[in-house]
Amino acid sequence: MSQILIIDDERAIRKTLGEILSYEGYKVEEASDGEEGLKKFKEKNFDVVLCDIKMPKLDGIEFLDKAREANPDIPIIMISGHGTIETAVEAVKKGAFDYISKPPDLNRLLITLRNAMDKTSLVTETKVLKRKVGKVQEMIGNSPAIQRIKDTIEKVAPTDARVLITGENGVGKELVARWLHEKSNRSSGPLVEVNCAAIPGELIESELFGHEKGSFTSAIKQRIGKFEQASGGTLFLDEIGDMSLSAQAKVLRALQEGKITRVGGDKEISVDVRVVAATNKDLLKEVEEKNFRLDLYHRLSVILIHVPSLNDRRDDIPLLVDKFLENICIEYGIAKKEIEADALEALRDYNWTGNIRELRNVVERLVILSGKTIVKEDVVNNVVPRN
Ligand SMILES: Nc1ncnc2c1ncn2[C@@H]1O[C@H](COP(=O)(O)OP(=O)(O)OP(=O)(O)O)[C@@H](O)[C@H]1O
Ligand SMILES: [Mg+2]
Repeated sequence: MSQILIIDDERAIRKTLGEILSYEGYKVEEASDGEEGLKKFKEKNFDVVLCDIKMPKLDGIEFLDKAREANPDIPIIMISGHGTIETAVEAVKKGAFDYISKPPDLNRLLITLRNAMDKTSLVTETKVLKRKVGKVQEMIGNSPAIQRIKDTIEKVAPTDARVLITGENGVGKELVARWLHEKSNRSSGPLVEVNCAAIPGELIESELFGHEKGSFTSAIKQRIGKFEQASGGTLFLDEIGDMSLSAQAKVLRALQEGKITRVGGDKEISVDVRVVAATNKDLLKEVEEKNFRLDLYHRLSVILIHVPSLNDRRDDIPLLVDKFLENICIEYGIAKKEIEADALEALRDYNWTGNIRELRNVVERLVILSGKTIVKEDVVNNVVPRN
């Protein structure tokens, strides 16, 4: 049953509204002024609040401010008497859900209430969804290499030390970065990702540091860069080996001084950012070939985490296959398929140049193409050997 709080100093109004709403099947509580209303609001989780504007002690607007501070997700509908319509409109601008006028029109009241409740359920749904989506995928594997990586994450995540993650394509570098953020003291802050390889060289600086309006031809609006967006959180510089030398120089300065300047701007802006970088290149080789700055390499690699190729930790393959089978079958809405031992053996022996990403794709293909149980023949027929 939905619970509604009615706050009004006029007993007659409380009585009328209370009766109507109880009759409509809502559970109603009353308060006779803003102060009492706020107390009840904080004690209980109401679905909607109806609140008068002119009241002794705490008036409607003050109530609105305080209530939204305490819980911004609960819709508040203002009840406006003669001469308070303007205030009611003001209240809506300040975050009230809507207002109704005195004497309340029954239909209008019920429709407004229903809309307000729809909004509450929407807000909670979005929150649950965000939590689900936000949850970081488990890092599967028992091999000593994965154990070591997990230990390092536990130790390093809560510090602000910069981490450089290396490893081939699809080994799980991004996953490591996500866990570093998740287990850090910054996990309530943002995790902002920049794929340095995907951004054209001439745009990377504006992407990272932002720009002021008019600083170059296409800069029609001011733009906040990723460093600023990540403030209070983690900035993940993916594919850092592909960053241009001039952008590298600016990143170096940002790391050294904790300050950035927007492109075309002159103001220095302090940023509180923990930087995690990843690359599939051999950065020291890039340094030798003068494609990467050695000073930046040292700044970034305070902690080094190398994620080994799947071919070097084949013992993890059965666990990974099992988990992927489970997840993929759930995605497809079918019962989990089994895999025979020799089929699994064939997967263990395969040459995984695309690492975990490729393994996941192969398992998905097998789920689609095989019967209830995946047999060796499925693997032989559907996974092209490569040696
Ligand atoms: N240990 C693991 N357990 C489960 N899933 C994993 C694991 N490692 C990686 N994955 C999954 O494999 C896929 C590839 O991982 P990820 O994107 O982190 O790799 P990457 O090293 O960043 O790849 P690239 O170099 O291509 O950017 C993702 O879907 C990721 O969730
Ligand atoms: Mg990646």
